[in-house]
Amino acid sequence: MTNINELKKLQVIILAAGQGTRMRSHLPKPLVSVLGQPLLEYVSNAVTQFSTQQDISTSLGVVVGHKRELVEEFLSSKEESFEIAYQKEQNGTAHAVTCFFEAHPEAWHSDFVLIASGDTPTLDSKDLSAMYQELIASDCDGVCASFLTENPFGFGRIIREGKGFKIVEEKDANENEKLVKEVNAGLYLLKTNFIKKYLNEIKSENKASEFYLTDLFNSDRSVIAKLFQQAENFLGVNDLAQLSLAETILQRKKVNKLQCEGVRFIHPESSYIEWQVDIGEGSIVYPGVCLEGSSAIGLSCKIEAGVVLKDTTVESDTVILAHSYLEDSHIGASCQIGPFARIRPGSSFEDFVKVGNFVETKNTLLKSGAKVSHLSYVGDAEVGENSNLGCGLITCNYDGEKKHKTIIGSGTFIGSDCQLIAPITIGDDSFIAAGSTLTHDVPSGGFAIARSKQVTKEHMAKKFLKTKK
Ligand code: UD1
Ligand code: MG
Repeated sequence: MTNINELKKLQVIILAAGQGTRMRSHLPKPLVSVLGQPLLEYVSNAVTQFSTQQDISTSLGVVVGHKRELVEEFLSSKEESFEIAYQKEQNGTAHAVTCFFEAHPEAWHSDFVLIASGDTPTLDSKDLSAMYQELIASDCDGVCASFLTENPFGFGRIIREGKGFKIVEEKDANENEKLVKEVNAGLYLLKTNFIKKYLNEIKSENKASEFYLTDLFNSDRSVIAKLFQQAENFLGVNDLAQLSLAETILQRKKVNKLQCEGVRFIHPESSYIEWQVDIGEGSIVYPGVCLEGSSAIGLSCKIEAGVVLKDTTVESDTVILAHSYLEDSHIGASCQIGPFARIRPGSSFEDFVKVGNFVETKNTLLKSGAKVSHLSYVGDAEVGENSNLGCGLITCNYDGEKKHKTIIGSGTFIGSDCQLIAPITIGDDSFIAAGSTLTHDVPSGGFAIARSKQVTKEHMAKKFLKTKK
């Protein structure tokens, strides 16, 4: 059986040429990120999801302009391929669409065109599907998404009249029109023929002297303004206040999704969980936790208050105690890290590792069951299974010019307050006495002590004790 969608072609055009002056960012607006992901990526993901859900043959187009090199670089890093058009001067949304068709005339052979803005990160593919169903069912020429807002300032107002409706921009609205609370979401699904017929007719006779795409709609045309109840799905981000609102909405969605998957949040409002982060069932996240980038947490982990994870993976049943800071690292299963541990890039811990308070590691492999429990620096090192590094151990890895490696075998015990001057190798099952500063290798099974001998004189303390009267 042939699916009717197989015969249909959809052209997507994401408008992302504007400068976004109000964002006050050195980045072009489409690349400004929310929860660690660029605004544009949310839009393109929603569109891609919609096209997959509806099983419709889709070409993804983006109109770039301001700082186009950066936007194009980002698009080329994505898996999907994008058709890019350059809008040299931003003369309005209709002009942006014209630029797209000039660069990609083959797009005129599509059946429908979906036009979205690159600054609407809360877009939901379900709403796009609803617009598509409406267009198919009504056989009208175009569907425009609208919503109601108590503060319509800045939006195009939907004025329903005749068989269609028109959109009046803030700058051009009269007093009565300004009172209208139904506004244009800036999201349109249109028949390609309809655009072809009317796009060229659009004039720039308005207060902004711009070519408004919204002029495609009027009272005589067969167009529908589809009113959506969930206004927050259409939030346009034009300034930093709207950016933080978008962040709040997306954070709530992210946390809800994880809760449905069995993750417990204690005081979710205070946690910051980026969009790409994954957390396994049965895990608990305490207040004030920041999980960023590509971080991923396994099943039944506990992440205590104030922990920061950046691009770090944590396997199942591991506990990260309060106020630990982990970057670009991998922590195995059933480990215990912290409190107050600093795990720097390149740290890799196997299972059952313990790293305690005020321990810093960097570019270090701790094999299964290794322990560094207190106040240590372990950098550029490899530590074998079940070895125990005592309190205050320092790997002296840097000679002022180069970094050197420390290798410690398995089953080795290193007493408290030792310094290992790298490069150095300590074998398996060896024993290093507390307070030693080692400059030479120790063979497997060896004992090393490197500290000055103790001198004790009986009754001599009084010479040093000052008595105060
Ligand atoms: C637009 C709509 C308004 C709607 C609002 C919803 C028009 C004329 N107005 O206003 O009715 O209520 O969105 O958020 O469409 N862009 C270009 N090239 C241009 C101009 C804009 O690519 O020449 C892009 C922008 O980068 C942005 C999008 O189009 O992604 C919308 O432009 P913006 O300036 O944000 O329009 P609004 O004032 O928000
Ligand atoms: Mg906007």
